[in-house]
Amino acid sequence: MAYFWFKAFHIIGVVVWFAGLFYLVRLFVYHAEASQEPEPAQTILKNQYQIMEKRLYNIITMPGMVVTVAMAIGLLTTEPGVLKSGWMHIKLAFVAVLLVYHFYCGRLMGQLEKGQCNWSGQQFRALNEAPTLLLLVIVLLAVFKNNIPTDITGWLIAGMVIAMTASIHLYAKKRKRDKEKRLAAEASKADEEMTGQLST
Ligand code: HEM
Repeated sequence: MAYFWFKAFHIIGVVVWFAGLFYLVRLFVYHAEASQEPEPAQTILKNQYQIMEKRLYNIITMPGMVVTVAMAIGLLTTEPGVLKSGWMHIKLAFVAVLLVYHFYCGRLMGQLEKGQCNWSGQQFRALNEAPTLLLLVIVLLAVFKNNIPTDITGWLIAGMVIAMTASIHLYAKKRKRDKEKRLAAEASKADEEMTGQLST
């Protein structure tokens, strides 16, 4: 019975942990892009994102990670035999990468707070795709175990990497186009106002 409780809360922990990780780096995107705003909006936005990031990291992401790992230890103590399986060794390797990602995000948060982070919004967008790939691989390993279809998994990962790279590039192009349009509209408005003033 304990095994099922551990498994249920292991999965709940995973959901909370990933919700936190995904939203945290999305906030980093906004935080980095706030540098393009004029003052005082820039300082107000950065302070607000900083508060949101800290609360999210400490109240959601970190507890999600602790519950996932604690429940995983519970699962391993009730079913120690699973530690001998090949799929579990691979899963643990990917979980180790995920933990590095988690703490690296904590470090980036500190650098953003001190104004020492030079990452652009686009770089944070790319970083935010990493946990999606880890989630896919870890969940497939947990479900299929030693029977994981490596060919389909490989194609899935390749497809996701291509789709993510393309969407990041397309979005960057769209933002550039929108910015150019906005600047052109502002310039023509200023022009009209100037002409109006000269004619009166
Ligand atoms: C801290 C390292 C982790 C350990 C030691 C661990 C260990 C385990 C164990 C022993 C099970 C039960 C396996 C079974 O007999 O069915 C399990 C289930 C599961 N784990 Fe983990 N896990 C870890 C992290 C994660 C992470 C990070 C994720 C998600 C990204 C994850 C997703 C799952 C899922 C979805 C199941 C349910 C699989 C099923 O019932 O079919 N685990 N885990």
